[in-house]
Amino acid sequence: MALRTIVTGKDPILRKTSRPVEVFDQKLWTLLDDMAETMYKNEGVGLAAVQVGILKRVVTVNVGEGLIELVNPEIIESQGSQEDSEGCLSFPDEYGIVERPAKVVVRAMDRNGNVREITGTGLLARAFCHEIDHLDGIVFKDKVKEMLTPEELRPRRKRFFERRGE
Ligand code: NI
Repeated sequence: MALRTIVTGKDPILRKTSRPVEVFDQKLWTLLDDMAETMYKNEGVGLAAVQVGILKRVVTVNVGEGLIELVNPEIIESQGSQEDSEGCLSFPDEYGIVERPAKVVVRAMDRNGNVREITGTGLLARAFCHEIDHLDGIVFKDKVKEMLTPEELRPRRKRFFERRGE
C-alpha cells in the first residue's frame, strides 16, 4: 500500500466526471488499498478516486463503522433530510452546513464486481452523498448553505468526535 497525494480544490480535475470501472483487477485493488490508507492518514471519513487524480467511479468510506468500498455507486433511494457541517480533504480547513438526505440506499459493486445494496443514515448517508457527488465533478461547496468559521465549527467537531468515542 502507498499513500497518494490528495488534489486540492483549485485542481480542475475535481470538476471532471469519473468513468465507470469495467475491469476488476490488481490495479483496482491497489487503488482501493491506497485510497483507504490515504483517507485514514488524513483523518477523513471518505475519499473519491478523483481526489487522488484517478477519474474512476471508486469511493472509500469509513465513518467509524468499518471500511466500505464502493465501485460504480449509485444512489437508488433517498429519504428525508438532515443539515450538518461538512468538509472535504480537498478543501482543508473549509467547512460549511450542507443539507443531505437523512437516509440513502446505494447500489454499488465491491472490489470483485459483486453488486450489493447498502443503506446509510446520518453521517454515513452524508458521506455516501458527498463522495458520489465527487464522481460527477460536484464538491460540497456547490451545495453549502453557509460556510463556518473555525469558532463556529469547533463545538460541532467536538460533538462529532464524542459520538465516535474518541
Ligand atoms: Ni470531498
